[in-house]
Amino acid sequence: MDNLILSLENISKRFGATPVLKGITLTVAGNEIFFLLGPSGCGKTTLLRIIAGFCQPDSGRILLDGQDITGVPAHQRHIGLVFQNYALWPHLTVWENVAYGLKLRKLPEKFVHQRVEEMLTLTHLLPQKNLYPSQLSGGQQQRVALARSLIVRPRLLLLDEPLSNLDANLREQMRQEIKKIQKETGITMIYVTHDQREALTMAHRLAVMNAGEIVQTGTPLQIYFEPGNRFVADFVGTVNLLAGKVSGFETGLLQVETSEGLLRATGGGDFSSGQAVEIGFRPESISLRPGQSNVFRTTVTETEIGEGIMRVMATSPGGRNFLLHLPLETGRKLQAGQNLIFSVPPERMIVFPLSPSVPSAVKRNGRDKPHLP
Ligand SMILES: Nc1ncnc2c1ncn2[C@@H]1O[C@H](COP(=O)(O)OP(=O)(O)O)[C@@H](O)[C@H]1O
Ligand SMILES: [Mg+2]
Repeated sequence: MDNLILSLENISKRFGATPVLKGITLTVAGNEIFFLLGPSGCGKTTLLRIIAGFCQPDSGRILLDGQDITGVPAHQRHIGLVFQNYALWPHLTVWENVAYGLKLRKLPEKFVHQRVEEMLTLTHLLPQKNLYPSQLSGGQQQRVALARSLIVRPRLLLLDEPLSNLDANLREQMRQEIKKIQKETGITMIYVTHDQREALTMAHRLAVMNAGEIVQTGTPLQIYFEPGNRFVADFVGTVNLLAGKVSGFETGLLQVETSEGLLRATGGGDFSSGQAVEIGFRPESISLRPGQSNVFRTTVTETEIGEGIMRVMATSPGGRNFLLHLPLETGRKLQAGQNLIFSVPPERMIVFPLSPSVPSAVKRNGRDKPHLP
């Protein structure tokens, strides 16, 4: 990466005897929104605090623009932070809150005035400039927090679940707004969330974390369509998965024997013959046109309308349940009891080594719970 700005090298941290971060290594490029996505308690906030300098790692290094900043105090790192609770000064107006960081630096009044005006314009807060935080909505307060962090032009802005106090509509609107602000200012952001939708819709790249480790890094499309393991596949969406065994290789294709017959997936370099794997596909990866490979003959059991799609539940003769997403106009014509033949192109099949500790059934929507013996 030519415009590399932040590297973490093997960062580890324990609290007492509990390891909270286990050797985190990652690189964030200039001008990107990089996401850390993972369940609550996986170590996201701890990692952000280490980057900001509020917490020291037990081992590992942090480089900012090539300089080792691991021992540099927080206030000398030029890194801004925005939290879930906005922590604005209640006794200062919007204008004064935003100006605060520049006033501390004792910059000329005229310069401060111009910068504050710029920031309030960028965050659409000019009409509210004389109000106090208690007179603002949650979204407006979070915009003040953003403006206040951005005005000092940090090298890097860290955001820790900044939208989780907002209701769903406002959150959606603020996502768009933060994306726009990032684009207009060109500031590099590291954004922490447990919300997969937020990460997939906003990130240039993201790292998925679990239990103190990064389990996969990639673009939203890579993470969604090419998850490297079961955890990522489940955490970022629903996936239809079958247990199988690698039974052979064709040119560019991996063959996997499953309870639904022989399935084919592109790639296969990393697998060996006889290896236990999980193979599957996302609900939207199917085609109703006749396919050469991965043809499933099913019966529709249920349909429901979703966000811009129809959710279709279908069962194979062997009793295997699948969740499919179809365009509304196609899906609305389907009824329970009807036969449905679909196929999945080999390049849309997801394959990864079977993880021995987790049962192999779709868990997320609760419709297809694993049967315990
Ligand atoms: N100061 C601390 N002292 C002891 N344990 C902590 C401290 N901060 C965080 N932890 C623990 O570290 C783990 C990770 O916490 P955190 O980084 O806040 O996760 P996340 O932000 O992903 O929810 C949790 O088990 C949490 O209880
Ligand atoms: Mg947290």
